[in-house]
Amino acid sequence: MSCVTLAAAAKINLYLRILGPRTDGYHEVAMVLQSVNLRDVIHLTTQSRKEFVITCDHPQVPTDGTNLAVQAARLLAEQFPHQATGLTIHIEKHIPVAAGLAGGSSNGAAVLVGLNHLWGLGLTLAELQALAARLGSDMPFCVQGGTALGTGRGEILEPLPPLTGGAVVLAKFTNLSISTPWAYRTYGENFSHSFALATGQESDHFVQILASHSLAEIASHLHNDFESVVLPAYPQIQELKQGLLNTGALGSLLSGSGPTVFALYADLTQANQAVSALKTNYREVDFWVAEFCHWGVQITSS
Ligand code: C5P
Repeated sequence: MSCVTLAAAAKINLYLRILGPRTDGYHEVAMVLQSVNLRDVIHLTTQSRKEFVITCDHPQVPTDGTNLAVQAARLLAEQFPHQATGLTIHIEKHIPVAAGLAGGSSNGAAVLVGLNHLWGLGLTLAELQALAARLGSDMPFCVQGGTALGTGRGEILEPLPPLTGGAVVLAKFTNLSISTPWAYRTYGENFSHSFALATGQESDHFVQILASHSLAEIASHLHNDFESVVLPAYPQIQELKQGLLNTGALGSLLSGSGPTVFALYADLTQANQAVSALKTNYREVDFWVAEFCHWGVQITSS
């Protein structure tokens, strides 16, 4: 029996444009993805019985074949039947579920990295990412982490210089979740006229701003197309975003298709003060304070 423990980082989108529908049912996007050190912990243990058993300490996480961690293990077992063993997967959940933070994708990415190690597969980062792309558009980024430009359906990645300093507050209404397919579909129904206008050039501009390393400048250029469908449909999220801005945040944005909103602060002290101030007024909201990080998955013990 051998085991490995991994940390899997959440991601936020600092920039997200939906460029138009594709023939495969997905949408072409241009996005800047950023890892933050809010992490799940994944324990993988080989076992002699040839089956995959998954447990999780969070009741909303499925423990069947719909879990991306199980799908990742199955995909690698199909590809490498001679190296594959039985496996128990235990997930300690800290990243909120169905929140726009790629929590499920990060767990799948951790299983790919962990099994590459446990089963001695010798797969490169690019090979792991190609497998990850078969399971989810965000998953190749989760394998690599850091700061990256994502194009195609989000799986074509160009690493960007790391963001350092500052602090991030993540805020999510406890009982709210938003379906990503709904958000894409509703955007298409209401904003298809802007598809032709949206080009990659705007993301080039944001990437230049990132290179300036000025957090204030970056924060004032945050953009997410999903806000135009999610904020009108969920006014409480718009109000929460305004609440974050009122605490002196440099900028605030919906993450992915939501419902989490994040806000950027100059440092951890300001971020913690903001959360203390907001907690009393927003009793149905969970808050987390995090920092940018340069990794997506880390092996923490083996
Ligand atoms: O790739 P993933 O399984 O995470 O995507 C979930 C859903 O989100 C897809 O089934 C699709 O409806 C939508 N999606 C999309 N365009 C993308 C990524 C996701 O339309 N670039």
